[in-house]
Amino acid sequence: MNADSAALLRARYRREKLPSIAESPVIRTLMAHRSVRAYLPDPLPEGALEAAIAAAQSAATSSNLQCWSVVAVEDAARKARLAELCGHQKHIVEAPLFLAWIADLSRLERIAEAQDSGRESLDYLEMFMVALIDTALAAQNAVAAFESLGLGTVYIGGLRNHPVEVAKELHLPPLSVGAFGLCVGAPDPAHPADIKPRLPQAAVLHREHYDAAREAELIAQYDADANQFQIEQGLPERAWSSTMARRIAGLRGLSGRDVMRAALETLGFALK
Ligand SMILES: Cc1cc2nc3c(=O)[nH]c(=O)nc-3n(C[C@H](O)[C@H](O)[C@H](O)COP(=O)(O)O)c2cc1C
Repeated sequence: MNADSAALLRARYRREKLPSIAESPVIRTLMAHRSVRAYLPDPLPEGALEAAIAAAQSAATSSNLQCWSVVAVEDAARKARLAELCGHQKHIVEAPLFLAWIADLSRLERIAEAQDSGRESLDYLEMFMVALIDTALAAQNAVAAFESLGLGTVYIGGLRNHPVEVAKELHLPPLSVGAFGLCVGAPDPAHPADIKPRLPQAAVLHREHYDAAREAELIAQYDADANQFQIEQGLPERAWSSTMARRIAGLRGLSGRDVMRAALETLGFALK
C-alpha cells in the first residue's frame, strides 16, 4: 500500500489491524479530511470558488431537481452578523469565505408559477428531505474540491440556530432555508488540524443485513481511540460514547433548534 494511504488509514482508525483498501488520489484526498477552524486572511486563489461550485453541481441530484443554492459571503460585516447568529463562532469571521448552503424549493415554485402548473408536492416533507439531501451531497463535493486544492473548510450547523433571521440576512425567498454553512480558506499553519479518528469500520459497515452484535466492543475500542486523540490535542479526556449520550439526553444539545418545525413553517415549508 502507498505509504500516504497507510498513514491516513492509521490516523483514521488507529488500529494495528487496518481495513485493506483500494487506493486512488481521490480516496487519499477524502481520507485526509479534517475540519479547519483557524485560517489565514488570504483570499481564495482565482477560480477556486467556481471550481468547487462546478464540483458541487456535478453531484447527483434527485430527479435532476437541483433544489439547492449557495450564498457566498465575503463581506466582513455580514460574516460577523452571521457568526453571531451561528453561536458566536469566530472561525466564520476569520475565514475569507463563508458559504451558506440553502435547501431551496423556491426555484421550483417560481417555475410552477411561470408555467401555471401547480406546486402541490412542494408542501410535503419528502420534498424538503430531497432538498436537504441534494444540498448535502453538493456541499460535500465542494468540500472535497476545496481540500484537493489545499484549502480548509468547516461545516457550520450553527446556521440552523436562527433560521428565520439567517433568511432575512441573506434575503432568502420563501421555501428556502439555510441548511448549514461552510467556512473556507487557507489553513493557518500555526494552528494545524489533525485527522480525527472514526468508529471502526465494522461498527458502520454491515454485510447483507444489519448486525449490532459486536457494537459494544467496537464502541469501547473507539472510546479509547477518541480519548487518546483528545489527549494528543490537549483537550479534556472524554469517551466518545459518554459525550454522545450527554449530547442526546436533553434538548440542550439542539442549540435552540427544538423549534425547527415552527421556523420552517414560517419560511413557507408545510412539511405535510
Ligand atoms: C452538518 C455539519 C455541521 C457542523 N457544524 C459545526 C459547527 O457549527 N461548528 C464547528 O466548529 N464544527 C461543525 N461541524 C464539524 C464537526 O464537528 C466535525 O466534522 C466532526 O467533529 C468531525 O471532525 P473532522 O471533520 O475534523 O473529522 C459540523 C459538521 C457537519 C457535517
